[in-house]
Amino acid sequence: MQGGSESMPRLAMERLISARSQSIDSSGIRRVFDLAARMKDPINLSIGQPDFHVPQAMLEATTHAVREHRNGYSVTQGIPDLLRAVWEYLAADVGWKGPSADLDCVVTSGTSGGLMLALMAVLDPGDEFIAADPYFVMYPQVAKLIGAQCVLCDTYPDFRLTAERVESLITPRTKAVLVNSPSNPCGTVLTELEIRDLVDLCHRRRVLLISDEIYDEFCFPDACEHGHCPSPARVSEECLLIRGFGKAYGCTGWRMGYAAGPTPLIQEICKLQQYTYVCAPTPLQWGVIPSFGCDLSPIIADYANRRDMVLKAFEGVTDVVRPGGAFYAFVKVPERLGISASEFVERAIKHRVLVIPGNVFSRRDSHFRLSFAASPAKLQEGLAVLRELMVG
Ligand SMILES: Cc1ncc(COP(=O)(O)O)c(C=O)c1O
Repeated sequence: MQGGSESMPRLAMERLISARSQSIDSSGIRRVFDLAARMKDPINLSIGQPDFHVPQAMLEATTHAVREHRNGYSVTQGIPDLLRAVWEYLAADVGWKGPSADLDCVVTSGTSGGLMLALMAVLDPGDEFIAADPYFVMYPQVAKLIGAQCVLCDTYPDFRLTAERVESLITPRTKAVLVNSPSNPCGTVLTELEIRDLVDLCHRRRVLLISDEIYDEFCFPDACEHGHCPSPARVSEECLLIRGFGKAYGCTGWRMGYAAGPTPLIQEICKLQQYTYVCAPTPLQWGVIPSFGCDLSPIIADYANRRDMVLKAFEGVTDVVRPGGAFYAFVKVPERLGISASEFVERAIKHRVLVIPGNVFSRRDSHFRLSFAASPAKLQEGLAVLRELMVG
């Protein structure tokens, strides 16, 4: 101990932790990851990141930027070369021409960074936003952090966030509807019609549609319409798009994403970024520029095959809503087993198979999330164990 501190009372650290922070549980996903780290040779179907390497051109662009000493801060909004590349891509993908008085874009520290700042920019304490249940784990926790309310829309059993389900939840405090398609944890891809209905509803009720499109590149051919993943951006310029590079290009640790949408909102997000994340990591902003020229179609085809392996494994044993994208299936634990999903997951873990219980993503505990971002051999092995546990 350092001089003097022996006579001083120890800080009662718990008393110093904010009620805000204490109100947040550490992620149930982390608990499974910690378990995986201690297990010998687990069959890990819990991981939410792809199992392929970052494209060579992106690696080279990053190392080049580091070696060229582009390691300092960038402007808050993002380096002009990346912003230009994003706009070229958005023009081709959703027809947004920007930047303009109506539309703007900011490079963010991951999709999470974009979501956090967007929700902070829109919601005051007591305000509400609506999201699907099952949901991405971050949504209700960010709501707690900023004193807002994440109102959950029950989407069982088909996991579709439809305008009809959302409308009855809108109150005078609702500021936004947060859509995630393709979704985590279900892989649900909304149709163009469902998206259009949500856009119309938001417009009619004067709320913002925020679209978390982190998995937009991971849309399987059978869920694409007119060659792409349905997006509200093709219907309206008044929604906020939040996208990321991590999942599509195998670089979740690079923490790169972007938000694009109405200029006044993007300017607010920039202001908040200035005082929080400051900017997205500069060398990695250079690193993601070549991503727009990478062809992901062989990877998507491979993941679609793995999705089909999952559907086949559970055929006749339990219900799995066909995932249209991302790399997750939300699998129902058969009722005849008479156990919760958490209990089923404990049994699976005893057989070395790691999946995440549905109550991490939902108010219900009836399903589990299985990630098929695992090698086909491991996936097959894990599926056989899970099937066996269901058949009994
Ligand atoms: C739906 C969804 N949104 C956002 C994120 C966060 O992405 P990032 O790693 O880019 O912050 C994830 C990560 O799993 C996700 O599944």
